[in-house]
Amino acid sequence: MKFFRSLLMSISAAPLIHALPSTRTTPPIHTIFQFPNLTALENVATRGNGNLLITATSSNSLYQLNPLSPTGYITVATIPNVTSLLGIAEFQPDVFAVVAGNFTTVPPHTNPGTYSIWKVDLSRCYTRNCVGKKTKITDLPEGGLLNGMTLVVPGCSTALVADSSVGVIWRVDLLTGAYKIAVNDPLTQGPPDGLPLPIGVNGVHTFGSTLYFTNLFLNGGFYAQVPIHTSGPNIGFASGPASLVANIGTGDDFALDKKGVAYVATNAQETVDRVKRDGSFAVIAGSFNDTILEGCTAASFGRTASDGAVLYVVTNGGLAGPVPGTFREGGKVVALDTTRL
Ligand SMILES: *[C@@H]1O[C@H](CO)[C@@H](O)[C@H](O)[C@H]1NC(C)=O
Ligand SMILES: *[C@@H]1O[C@H](CO)[C@@H](O)[C@H](O)[C@H]1NC(C)=O
Ligand SMILES: *[C@@H]1O[C@H](CO)[C@@H](O)[C@H](O)[C@H]1NC(C)=O
Ligand SMILES: *[C@@H]1O[C@H](CO)[C@@H](O)[C@H](O)[C@H]1NC(C)=O
Repeated sequence: MKFFRSLLMSISAAPLIHALPSTRTTPPIHTIFQFPNLTALENVATRGNGNLLITATSSNSLYQLNPLSPTGYITVATIPNVTSLLGIAEFQPDVFAVVAGNFTTVPPHTNPGTYSIWKVDLSRCYTRNCVGKKTKITDLPEGGLLNGMTLVVPGCSTALVADSSVGVIWRVDLLTGAYKIAVNDPLTQGPPDGLPLPIGVNGVHTFGSTLYFTNLFLNGGFYAQVPIHTSGPNIGFASGPASLVANIGTGDDFALDKKGVAYVATNAQETVDRVKRDGSFAVIAGSFNDTILEGCTAASFGRTASDGAVLYVVTNGGLAGPVPGTFREGGKVVALDTTRL
C-alpha cells in the first residue's frame, strides 16, 4: 500500500537502517513494461500459461500482460461500482478471486464498507481478446481496507484476506461467500495513531501450516508468521500467537519460493528484500534512491519453463512517495532474475 515518504521517515528511521544490506548481490533486473502515468499497480498473479494478471488501486480493470512478449496489456475483467482492485489468488485452474473496493491512492484514503471479493473465471480465455467471466462472491461490509489475499492450501477454496485498516485477517469461503475473522493478533494491527491511514497487516501467503505476513507500519514495519489450521472446521484460523520473523521495515506484498523464502516488495523503501524462514534477510534489488523499484507493491514468480526463476515485481510509480529529485512515473512491471541468488 502506498503512503508518503515523509510518513515513513516520521515513524522511525531505525527499520531503514536495519534493512540496509551488509553484503549485496545484484541480480539482473529490467523493466519489461510501463503503464501510463498515474497508474498505481497494486498486485500480481501468474496464470498457468505464463501471463501476468495485474491489479491497480487506480483502476477497476484487471490487466493481463504476457511477460515473455510484453508489447502491451489487455483488460480481462472490469469490476463494477469500485475504483480499485487489490489482492488476487488462483483457487481453481485459471479461476481467480480478486479483492475490489474504493481506495484512493493520493492522498492515501480508504472507504470502509466498500470492499467485496469477486471471482474472475479465465479458464476458457486464451485468445488475445480474452474477457473473463466475473461474479461477486461476497460483499464484506465490515472490511476497512481489504488488501493481500492467499489460499490456506494451494488450490483450496478457503481464502485468507488481510484487512490493513481493521488489523485482522479474514477467512473467506470462496464457494459460499461466508466469512469470519481468522487472525486477530497484536502483530496484525496497524500503528496506534498519528498516521492518516494506519496500515497494518498487508501481504499474506501460506507455506505448509504457517501463514507469513507483512505489516507495513506497526513498529516501522516487519515480516511475521502465525501458525494456522489447514483442515477441519477451523481451517485458516490461527492455532497460536503470531511471532516476528524479521525487522525488514515497510513490507508490502511478497512471493514465496518453493522453500518458503520470501521476496518482499518494500514499497517506499524502493527495494525487494529476500527473507529466509530463519529470519535472515538482505536487500537483493533496488535502493532507496533508485527509481527501478520505485513504489514496488507486490511480486509473483513466472510459471513457464523459461521464466520459473524470474520474479515479476509491480510498482505504483512512486505516486505517493517518489524517489527524491525524480519525477513520478507510471507503474511498471519489472523482471528480476533470481537464478544466481
Ligand atoms: C454500488 O455501491 C453502493 C454502495 O455500496 C450500493 O448502494 C449500490 O447499490 C451499488 N451499485 C451497484 C450497481 O452495484
Ligand atoms: C465507489 O465510489 C464510486 C465513485 O465515487 C461510487 O459511485 C460507488 O458507489 C462506490 N462503491 C461502493 C461499493 O460504495
Ligand atoms: C539518498 O539521497 C539523499 C539525498 O541525495 C541522501 O541524503 C541519502 O543519504 C541517500 N540515501 C541512501 C540510502 O542512499
Ligand atoms: C505524472 O503525474 C504527476 C501528477 O500529475 C506529475 O507530477 C508528474 O510530473 C507526471 N510525470 C510524468 C513523467 O509525466
